[in-house]
Amino acid sequence: MRVITTIKDMQTEIINLKAQSKSIGFVPTMGFLHEGHLTLLKRAREENDIVVLSIFVNPLQFGPTEDFSTYPRDFDRDQSLAECEGVDFLFYPSVEEMYPHSSSVRIIVQERTDVLCGKSRPGHFDGVAAVLTKLFNIVLPTRAYFGKKDAQQVAVIEGLITDFNFPIELIPVDIVREEDGLAKSSRNVNLLPNERRQAAVLFKSLAAAKETIEGGERNPRTIKNLISNMICSETNGEIDYVEIYSYPQLKTLENIDGTCIIAIAVKFSKVRLIDNIILEVGQEIGGVK
Ligand code: PAJ
Repeated sequence: MRVITTIKDMQTEIINLKAQSKSIGFVPTMGFLHEGHLTLLKRAREENDIVVLSIFVNPLQFGPTEDFSTYPRDFDRDQSLAECEGVDFLFYPSVEEMYPHSSSVRIIVQERTDVLCGKSRPGHFDGVAAVLTKLFNIVLPTRAYFGKKDAQQVAVIEGLITDFNFPIELIPVDIVREEDGLAKSSRNVNLLPNERRQAAVLFKSLAAAKETIEGGERNPRTIKNLISNMICSETNGEIDYVEIYSYPQLKTLENIDGTCIIAIAVKFSKVRLIDNIILEVGQEIGGVK
């Protein structure tokens, strides 16, 4: 595995590989790798000649009061994990390398950002779109792998790839969870011990919602109340949102029907966690496809 820190070196390598018709699988991350990231890397390894992992904590996607400075980092550990997964190139640029001067062009994500994390984190998806536009142009991937844990991010990236005609296949990958159901996240290390125990309730509440929908409930408000009540009574966390939308359109639903996402965000003392499930709900009473 080669660690590359400059854009020029990364582009030179990639242009060479492209000339040899190699397929490039790309996994962009902010590091502090866990099983979720490793699953994306395994998938990329299976499906491509070359695997590129990027590690870059992107300041543009953090709000002024968010956790950019406390975002967990451990490059040495990440490097060994990447090596074990058979990564060919680890792209690890500095902030100065990626953003040497203030940008002359700004990307604004217009659709699907007035809800969920887009609403709670203004400008967040503009920052994600900006860094991915740069990374896509640097790495020129054949396929790019993203986790469904950030389901709104997947929907936004789908729009970015389509709108800007990136010749990239987007591969969404299922959420990887801890044994108690908590979605794996780099941020989980910033939970206090009692919060870590309580955090399992997030997935428990989504599972209870799924079961209730399977039992025939179709009213979004009833399901949202069920989830909110569980989170409020079983955790000290503060609910940021509990929402149900069509997916990937992220439009409000009168009735739970079709492909829909139940998404939640909960703030603990030092960390805000997100989770979701995507369901295929049939018309027939009680039918979850
Ligand atoms: P990061 O949070 O490091 O996540 C990198 C990728 O890993 C994302 O596609 C994310 O959805 C996926 N991922 C994280 N936890 C996962 C889990 N438990 N199961 C499956 N996949 C999981 O998302 C970002 O970084 C950034 O926004 C980025 C796309 C790199 C742009 O800066």
